[in-house]
Amino acid sequence: MTLQERLDELRRRHELAQAGGGAERVARQHAEGKLSARERIDLLFDEGSFEEIDKLVEHCCQDFGMAEQRIPGDGVVTGHGLINGRSAYAFAQDFTVFGGSLSEANAAKVCKIMDLAMKTGAPIVGLNDSGGARIQEGVASLAGYADIFLRNTLASGVVPQVSAVMGPCAGGAVYSPAITDFTVMVEKSSYMFVTGPEVIKTVMHEDVTKEELGGPMTHNATSGVGHFVTRDDPDCLALIRELLSFMPQNNRDEPPRVECRDPIDRRDEELDGVVPLESDRPYDIKDVIHRVVDDGYLVEVHEHFAKNLVVGFARLGGESVGVVANQPAVLAGCLDINASVKGARFVRFCDAFNIPLVTFEDVPGFLPGTQQEFGGIIRHGAKLLFAFAEATVPKVTVITRKAYGGAYCVMSSKHIRTDVNYAYPTAEIAVMGPEGAVNIVYRRELEKAEDPEKLRREKVEEFRDRFANPYIAAERGYIDDVIQPRDTRPKLIAALRMLETKRDVNPPKKHGNIPL
Ligand code: HXC
Repeated sequence: MTLQERLDELRRRHELAQAGGGAERVARQHAEGKLSARERIDLLFDEGSFEEIDKLVEHCCQDFGMAEQRIPGDGVVTGHGLINGRSAYAFAQDFTVFGGSLSEANAAKVCKIMDLAMKTGAPIVGLNDSGGARIQEGVASLAGYADIFLRNTLASGVVPQVSAVMGPCAGGAVYSPAITDFTVMVEKSSYMFVTGPEVIKTVMHEDVTKEELGGPMTHNATSGVGHFVTRDDPDCLALIRELLSFMPQNNRDEPPRVECRDPIDRRDEELDGVVPLESDRPYDIKDVIHRVVDDGYLVEVHEHFAKNLVVGFARLGGESVGVVANQPAVLAGCLDINASVKGARFVRFCDAFNIPLVTFEDVPGFLPGTQQEFGGIIRHGAKLLFAFAEATVPKVTVITRKAYGGAYCVMSSKHIRTDVNYAYPTAEIAVMGPEGAVNIVYRRELEKAEDPEKLRREKVEEFRDRFANPYIAAERGYIDDVIQPRDTRPKLIAALRMLETKRDVNPPKKHGNIPL
């Protein structure tokens, strides 16, 4: 073979890989509003930075006529490049090649880049769009999935892992995104389920559409499996780039610090009036968060799920922070099962990746009711407590209004190793609200009283005067200072700067036993 022939052969193979499943299938992908795997990769990485690996890999299946059907790359594009100037690895399943289904060879490609990501300490992004296990390969394909699940598990807490679901993701395939840190779904084109509508119809006699069962809003608002829902593919990929900008490369790295144009000493007089004096009047905690963080910018995680707790990434003085905040505008800010699980997972992510935690607290307690108790609010609430207690990153809390009962302890209180605890003058820190307290403590007196309502009013007032303030906690040092709301931003930034050199460790152990 001449050199020219060799070069032609190389070009031919590359062109074949580049073409994926062919123009017709790519057109079908586009008609469904989806980009091709390579187009997605181009948008995910900084321009021209992507280096493909294993472009020429082919499957080795001989059964069901597969020997004659080989396409270089075998249905997944893998490699590395730069995202916001920093190294990252990605795999993008190519639905135009055997439906993006996972073969033995294709799984080995994914595992290869995951291993490299672990060795070099860089994030892994998975772009999922696949018909699942390659049916023609049987158990070899299942083994490939399990190989990936193992790597997802071992990489958890070592390098950030983000999954995008940009098409079908069904059966056991869902467990790779589920193990990773964040799952982003795309409107109209993505769905996830363990068993599809047809199996559900046969086994359970239930009628449900694909969209209802596993569409983006189902998972973002109801199941909590999805953390983000995006308009389309470009929106999804831009979000992943943004998300990674808050994160370090790995667990031994610090999150990147960006230049901060928002003055660090910015005081906001209007913040003094955001929290209502009436303790039962709702307000939007996001109004507080936006006024405090750099440029008012918060990337909310799980925006549509358990809205009674707000979690997300922001920056303070250019430094990444994880914000956790009760939302008095929804369920009065009570903690329920979903909010506890949502909060716990986010806190653990931030702790694993050295992202300081800033907590805004206004919580009347855990949501009462048989539904919550039967559903296990005890063990789910314990997850949030466990996560905050276990976290060794810098932790700063601001109590804006209510901090009642067990929820006071859970929401990053001083007692579970929070470094700096502030309260607004509107804070109420007590075992429970004055009405509840009076009903219990003065039950007998109220039963016997000539005018029980008058007595109740007096006692409620007495309790309110005594406990509905931050000063008893401040007198004991459980609160480091009672601050004017307008000073929140400079106070938080000063606390975080002071904590930059914080070092704290947990006792040596194999791992804790978080109440799952
Ligand atoms: C091999 C597959 C495939 C698969 C799709 N294709 N899924 N090839 N193995 N799992 C191929 C099709 O033959 C077709 O090839 C092309 O991909 C596109 O598929 P269509 O059916 O034409 O596309 P569409 O109508 O959009 O439907 C998409 C789909 C459907 C809903 C995903 O293809 C489907 O139901 N596939 C099977 C899903 C499934 O049951 N997978 C196994 C699940 S078990 P041509 O050549 O015609 O273009 C599983 C468990 C994992 O995955 C376990 C891990 C532990």
